[in-house]
Amino acid sequence: MSAVLVTRRLPGASVARLAAHHDVDLHAGELPLSHEELHERLEGKAGVVVLLGGRIDRAAIDAAGPSLKIIANVAVGYDNLDVAYAASKGIVCTNTPDVLTDATADLTWALILGITRRLGEGERMLRAGAWKGWGFDFMLGSGLGGKLLGIVGGGRIGRAVAMRAAAFGMRVGVSSRRDPQWPGVEFLPLERLIPSADILSLHVPLTPETRHLVDRTALTRMKRSAYLINTTRGAVVDEGALAWALKEHLIAGAALDVYEREPEVHPDLLGLENVLLSPHLGSATRETRTAMADLAIDNVLAVLGGHPALTPIR
Ligand code: GLV
Repeated sequence: MSAVLVTRRLPGASVARLAAHHDVDLHAGELPLSHEELHERLEGKAGVVVLLGGRIDRAAIDAAGPSLKIIANVAVGYDNLDVAYAASKGIVCTNTPDVLTDATADLTWALILGITRRLGEGERMLRAGAWKGWGFDFMLGSGLGGKLLGIVGGGRIGRAVAMRAAAFGMRVGVSSRRDPQWPGVEFLPLERLIPSADILSLHVPLTPETRHLVDRTALTRMKRSAYLINTTRGAVVDEGALAWALKEHLIAGAALDVYEREPEVHPDLLGLENVLLSPHLGSATRETRTAMADLAIDNVLAVLGGHPALTPIR
């Protein structure tokens, strides 16, 4: 039996499965542990199951001490982990790929449809009692058929978003380091994708190279009729620059599920009609969250049981 910290509540029976084999220290509070609490509770642990909002950096790894063997992230993105430092200490890091691909791709399409058909704006108007009735040219949106969906990032979620595009009659282009060779999808360098996409959807992980990939310059190069969609990590977009571009109508709109400083949202975005904002719901279905929790726990059980991790981060 080893000691394992779970940094936030997990759904389903996953914690019970872990507790059948290990001594579980579960933080069941609504809010994430503070930096200090996290470090205190990490001390002497063999494993940590870390949820969004938890940062396992060099200091946290040092706080855990030499007992730490596995850091199991309950997310596919792992910009919250110092994977290189963990590896240098022989600690295995894992994430939860695949199980959240479809849920995140579905939410991406919900955002694409929501912003192009002005659903947020329409609902706000209706609830405010300001709707005067059906009108032939009332609240017209933008159609998708024949337009170009630009996917930034050649990974699983980008692919799942691309594969759904046929249902809406869209053409698809992808930019990534290498041509992912997705059927029917044109490989384009980012410099060409940005000015030609009608919908630009971001699916790259957050790394030093992708931080503020969409900045003022990129936004000014987009079509004035284009929409930006972000379901990856907030900091891939310069939020201040985006608020400015939306205010100036340099692009038609944006739909965001992620923010640079969650749960804060750039105050200028909150007052704009041409942006749809959701509170980081990409993988938020009961089925997907259960599968993510199960996969993270399986990784801990495997590594602490002396077996290879199921989904190690390499
Ligand atoms: C959620 O944001 C994830 O990376 O899984």
